[in-house]
Amino acid sequence: MRGLTGKTFVVAGGATGIGAGAAIRLGEEGANVVVGDINIAGATSTVNKIVEGGGKAVATHFDLADELSAEALVDMAIAQFGTVHGLFNVGADLSPGNLGRDRSLLDTDLDVWHRTLDVNVVGFVRTSRAVLPHLLANGGGSIVNTSSGAAVSGGDRLRPAYAASKSAVNALTRHIAGNWGPRGVRCNGVMPGLVMGETQEQQNDVALQERFLREVPTTRLGRPADLAAVVAFLLSDDAEWVNGQVWAIDGGANMRA
Ligand SMILES: NC(=O)c1ccc[n+]([C@@H]2O[C@H](COP(=O)([O-])OP(=O)(O)OC[C@H]3O[C@@H](n4cnc5c(N)ncnc54)[C@H](O)[C@@H]3O)[C@@H](O)[C@H]2O)c1
Repeated sequence: MRGLTGKTFVVAGGATGIGAGAAIRLGEEGANVVVGDINIAGATSTVNKIVEGGGKAVATHFDLADELSAEALVDMAIAQFGTVHGLFNVGADLSPGNLGRDRSLLDTDLDVWHRTLDVNVVGFVRTSRAVLPHLLANGGGSIVNTSSGAAVSGGDRLRPAYAASKSAVNALTRHIAGNWGPRGVRCNGVMPGLVMGETQEQQNDVALQERFLREVPTTRLGRPADLAAVVAFLLSDDAEWVNGQVWAIDGGANMRA
């Protein structure tokens, strides 16, 4: 892809799953990658894979819930590689103690709403605020935000806080695209369907997997590499006229025109 080699990208939440897959793909494309995650062992493992493949990458502990941590993540890119050209926002609090308690409106404690919105939405706000001045100083750049099919699927009877957080991510994507597109900053989103990264393998929700395969016009479940390819494209110069879009990457689960 054009415009990835030698450029520097920050992956905010790249220890496992989609974030790790995208970080590895960016490394394969010749980009420098800064992998931040609350799971530092996982982030280090992602970086090791990039370096073993001949790429350049560094790992750092990073917490989406902490503004200073977001600034430090971007500062690390500058310190290690001189500047930063793009950001992939992908982390989310999918832990059993948070997402696992996100039930119907009457059954969900307010702390789940606060935590979900703080990490999944305000976390992306923190990283975007940290990186934007650098992208503007460079004359432009690209941000990709990870949403979810939950943002648009109607009648979601479970996980209302998660769905709301991903709808808010879509609004944030359009806000950045609209405000800073004229200065060369593109911002787009991806809405994955059911993608079998480490977290989904561990949860092993067989009923959900069977339902997805039954109801979605596809032959298989998603893989992190499916998202990585699209994210790399959106970060690349090949996507320079794509801005403010949120794409469903889900085997056809959501069809919208
Ligand atoms: N896999 C799917 O089926 C699917 C579907 C729709 C949307 N998504 C979205 O894709 C993204 C990646 O999910 P995934 O499936 O790869 O799961 P994952 O658990 O592998 O990835 C989430 C990452 O976020 C990190 N993280 C959690 N809290 C954090 C914090 N406070 N600060 C920094 N990092 C933190 C985790 O350590 C992990 O590395 C998420 O935003 C998720 O909502 C996934």
